[in-house]
This record gives sequence, C-alpha cells and structure tokens, in this order.
Amino acid sequence: MTVEQTRGEPVSAKAVKPYKGLAMEGMIAKWYAKIRTQDEEMARSLQQVRDMLPAGGSVLEIAPGPGYLAIEIAKLSGYRVVGLDISRTFVEIAHAKAREAGVTVDFQLGNASAMPFEDNTFDFTVCRAAFKNFTEPVQAIREMYRVLKPGGKALIADLRRDASRAEVDAHVDTMGLGRVNEWLTKWTFRTTLLKNAYTAEEMRRMVAQTEFGTCDIDLDTIGMEIWLTK
Ligand SMILES: C[S@@+](CC[C@H](N)C(=O)[O-])C[C@H]1O[C@@H](n2cnc3c(N)ncnc32)[C@H](O)[C@@H]1O
Repeated sequence: MTVEQTRGEPVSAKAVKPYKGLAMEGMIAKWYAKIRTQDEEMARSLQQVRDMLPAGGSVLEIAPGPGYLAIEIAKLSGYRVVGLDISRTFVEIAHAKAREAGVTVDFQLGNASAMPFEDNTFDFTVCRAAFKNFTEPVQAIREMYRVLKPGGKALIADLRRDASRAEVDAHVDTMGLGRVNEWLTKWTFRTTLLKNAYTAEEMRRMVAQTEFGTCDIDLDTIGMEIWLTK
C-alpha cells in the first residue's frame, strides 16, 4: 500500500484503498440506473457547465454511471462530451440512453486512475458521486490534471464522511423513491457510502499531493464540491 507524505503531514492510507462497495455491474447497475434521480445537484452541475465552458468546449465526465449528466450536457449544443466508466454494464446502459435521447456522447470503458486520453484534452472534467469509490484516489486526481487543458477546471462532487445520519436520511427522503428503494438507499449510505467517503480535510491533503496543489471546497448539507484549476 502506498502512503504518501504531503507538506510534512501523514496522509491516510486511502492513497490506495480496496474497492469496498458492490461492483456496479449487472443487476446492481440496472437498479442504480432506475433509482438515480435527476435531482437539484444535476441541475446545478448543468448550470456550472453553462457558466464556465466556452462554446465548442470539451467535457469529460469521469464515472458517469448511467450517463444522465453527460447526456444532459450533450443536449446543450456545442460541446464535445466524453464519459469514462469502469463498469461494462454502465457503459452499455449509457450508450443506450444517449441513443434514446438522440445525442452523441462518447462513453468509454476505462479506469479513472489510468485514463485513455492524451494530455491537455479537456476544458472541464466532472466526477459526481463516484470519487469515494476509487481505489487510487490520488492517482485519479493526477489524471484529471494531466487530461485537462491549461486553465481547465475539474469538479469533484461527493458525499462528506462527516455528514450526519439524520441529514443523509433526510436527503434520501427527498429522492421520491418507493419504500423499498428508500430503505435500501439509506442502508447503502450507512453501510458503505459514508464509510468510503472523505472529509474536506482529507480531500485537501490528497490534492496537495498532485500538480493542482490546492483546491476550493464548497460544503453543503451532506456533500462537498471540490474545484481544481490546472
Ligand atoms: C455511484 S455511481 C455514480 C454514477 C454517476 N456519476 C452518478 O452521479 O449517478 C459510481 C460510478 O463510479 C464508477 N467507478 C468506480 N470506480 C471507477 C474507476 N476507477 N474508474 C472509473 N469509474 C469508476 C462505477 O462504475 C459507477 O459508475
């Protein structure tokens, strides 16, 4: 296991960590594609893309799962949109959903810590609700830096480990799920997602080990947005 030093502080052993969640293939991926709602977070991400991206800009969604955000970005005309996910099932689902929506998104199979892209390719990379699952989180941030154009921005949006159980439950209650899916989703947050998630301080320490060096972090009730500029 690689444990790295950053500005003299020890960094948690999460510089490389085992994938603790369920592998998101087959039935699990199909279940997730059904329950993943088009929420306020999605609307905010879309607005952020509109606000920051030049016309004709290129966007990479890292770990898009069923691809909902990438597809919505592709509907805003003028952007080149690529998605990269490690799950074969999700890549298939995302292709099918893009076809249904009548948009072009280049969904590819691959690992966030070894991206199959040239240096300086994208204006913006976005990674939502996935970073905490990565087995090599620091390497994934380094890859974001490598594939961004100079001046490009990366956004990582994810759960905070210090979110309270009451806040997480209240958030799930807003998702409009049926009783069984609501219970399953709360159980998954409790048993897996919160345990894998990071605090803002841990994110800062990981970013400090990469060429980005620093980041801006906005906190909300259960999550955080980490903004990085190349
Ligand atoms: C909870 S889903 C989130 C999907 C989507 N971003 C969303 O907001 O709904 C987590 C995603 O991370 C992907 N993933 C996990 N580890 C990965 C890695 N090392 N590289 C690329 N994708 C990865 C999974 O296959 C899955 O699609």
